[in-house]
Amino acid sequence: MRKPLIAANWKMNTTPAEAVALVRQMLPELETATGVETLLCPPFISTLVVADLLNHSSVMLGAQNVYYEDKGAFTGEISPLMLAGVCQYVILGHSERRSLFGESNQIVNKKVKAALKVGLKPILCVGESLADNDAGKTQEVVSTQLRQSLDGIKEVVGLVVAYEPVWAIGTGRAASAAQANKTIEMIRDVLSALMGCEVAGATRILYGGSVNAANIAEFISQPEIDGALVGGASLKAAEFISIVRESAAAKRCH
Ligand code: PGA
Repeated sequence: MRKPLIAANWKMNTTPAEAVALVRQMLPELETATGVETLLCPPFISTLVVADLLNHSSVMLGAQNVYYEDKGAFTGEISPLMLAGVCQYVILGHSERRSLFGESNQIVNKKVKAALKVGLKPILCVGESLADNDAGKTQEVVSTQLRQSLDGIKEVVGLVVAYEPVWAIGTGRAASAAQANKTIEMIRDVLSALMGCEVAGATRILYGGSVNAANIAEFISQPEIDGALVGGASLKAAEFISIVRESAAAKRCH
């Protein structure tokens, strides 16, 4: 059984004071959620203060990015070694990093390897653009992203994949649950071909892109969808709590 994961990606939002306030609003409710794992990914500047608040809680902590070297002359970067022991997860290859900061599959691959080396669980993001979707290239694009980002990796303890169609991120235009389930099924097939069916069967694959309290139940009820990576809706405490509650309820009934 894959335990559903509901992950909050706050992106470049919240000052440290706002991050603390948001965690304080959410935490009591998130801690009582059963049957789902919850994860908060605040901006780097708030990592330590949020880690303090989450200490001894069931809510996990993640980063939104990491560099692939352990240390050295890389001004402005944060290394996996610095995050290990503070965070459990790290989001890698998010489409905003790919499109705005030039991250190729090869760079993402180095980051996935570097994260795994220190025991950080990567949340590897993949997803096609609107043009690719319109051209019927979803399968081709997503499977290439997966193959190249996971190239040479055989040991994947804790790997999570997030399928996030670029056209659904922050647009209010989510994929249909059936569409997302179909692509996620294909992602599991690719994982199976790369790493064997045992690993593929154990790997959680999330959907991301305009997830909210109103549509989460439909996504989470799909057999292949193991949770969600939530952007905008994770910045509102009540909405994120509803998403977590709906997920727990929907998976129980499933
Ligand atoms: P969104 O973002 O929920 O605001 O669409 C999702 C993401 O980018 O992870």
